[in-house]
Amino acid sequence: METVIERMRDGIEEAGMRRAGEILRRGGLVAFPTETVYGLGADALDEKASGKIYQAKGRPSDNPLIVHIADWEAIGKIAAEIPPGAKLLADAFWPGPLTMILKKSDAVPLATTGGLDTVAVRLPSHPVARALIRAGGGYVAAPSANTSGRPSPTTAEHVAQDMDGVIDMIIDGGSVEIGLESTIVDLTEGTPTILRPGYISREMLEGVVGRVEVDHALLSEDVNIRPKAPGMRYRHYAPRAQLVIVEGEQQRVRQRINELAAANAAEGRSTGVIGTQESRGCYANALVKSIGSRQDESSIARHLYGILREFDDSEVSVIYSESFDTPQLGQAIMNRLIKAAGHQIISV
Ligand code: TXA
Ligand code: MG
Repeated sequence: METVIERMRDGIEEAGMRRAGEILRRGGLVAFPTETVYGLGADALDEKASGKIYQAKGRPSDNPLIVHIADWEAIGKIAAEIPPGAKLLADAFWPGPLTMILKKSDAVPLATTGGLDTVAVRLPSHPVARALIRAGGGYVAAPSANTSGRPSPTTAEHVAQDMDGVIDMIIDGGSVEIGLESTIVDLTEGTPTILRPGYISREMLEGVVGRVEVDHALLSEDVNIRPKAPGMRYRHYAPRAQLVIVEGEQQRVRQRINELAAANAAEGRSTGVIGTQESRGCYANALVKSIGSRQDESSIARHLYGILREFDDSEVSVIYSESFDTPQLGQAIMNRLIKAAGHQIISV
């Protein structure tokens, strides 16, 4: 199939948006920008259309999709119950990078929810995303637009690397703003529980609904504790090279990485390093990439997936990454990085 690219970096282009909406309405697939990462959209209420998403991504069919809406009122059709906390969180954080798990209505096919009786709902803030949802009928199922197991796409080029020839259209809205997937909070049982950390932190949620828990599996090293979000159970974002996180006092981290890189060079193995604007000049014997600045944690979040993809195009056999335990986004950044590293961490 030929994948049409519609360029909307400078805003919505009406004719292209109409074509994108028609593709969704007749059961096709359109990738589009959101403020978090690019999504791969299909009509969420059409089980055949949702099914195509799993095929295009090579995604296990028990891993549910997020249903994207463009207006609060749309939630009534897909959620069987709307707990008071949902309205409070929506007022505080929608449109934006928050996904809520609610009891699903009969309108949502099980193909969309991976067989679960709950549904994940998100109202994104990106204007192109919202225009597409409206053009497509109001309910767009969209996982991140990567092949299963690859880093989530933060540019239209990343989407094309994985999806060219496989889907009907890619809307190119330029680079995304946040770069990490939305925070997922489960509102279906008692205390609201974070199933996936993101830009909206636990503290921000607690400021609105009181006590919030974090899924125990996210805090544990024990692989036998199953995360509640099916997608968090799969190995994700794994770069081709071995990835190892080096954590500790910054001066000592730099020193240890340099020792490791020197040892690799002596053995003829090439090394990659994920450093920052502040540290990039401190490394030798390695291909060094700056992820952003420690003075601006959002720059680190925004570039994480792109850097992992760039290293996939290089010849390095091992990558050492500094640790980024920054104030607001640190939890979300490290959750992704630790998964990408398959939990390989050196503490110095
Ligand atoms: O920022 C985002 O959320 C992006 C953009 C495109 O909106 N989407 C995204 O979708 O990250 P995806 O499919 O890559 O991740 C969805 C996550 C998976 O871990 C899935 O298991 C979980 O949400 N999920 C979806 N429905 C669920 C449900 N009913 N119960 C528990 N977890 C659910
Ligand atoms: Mg994903």
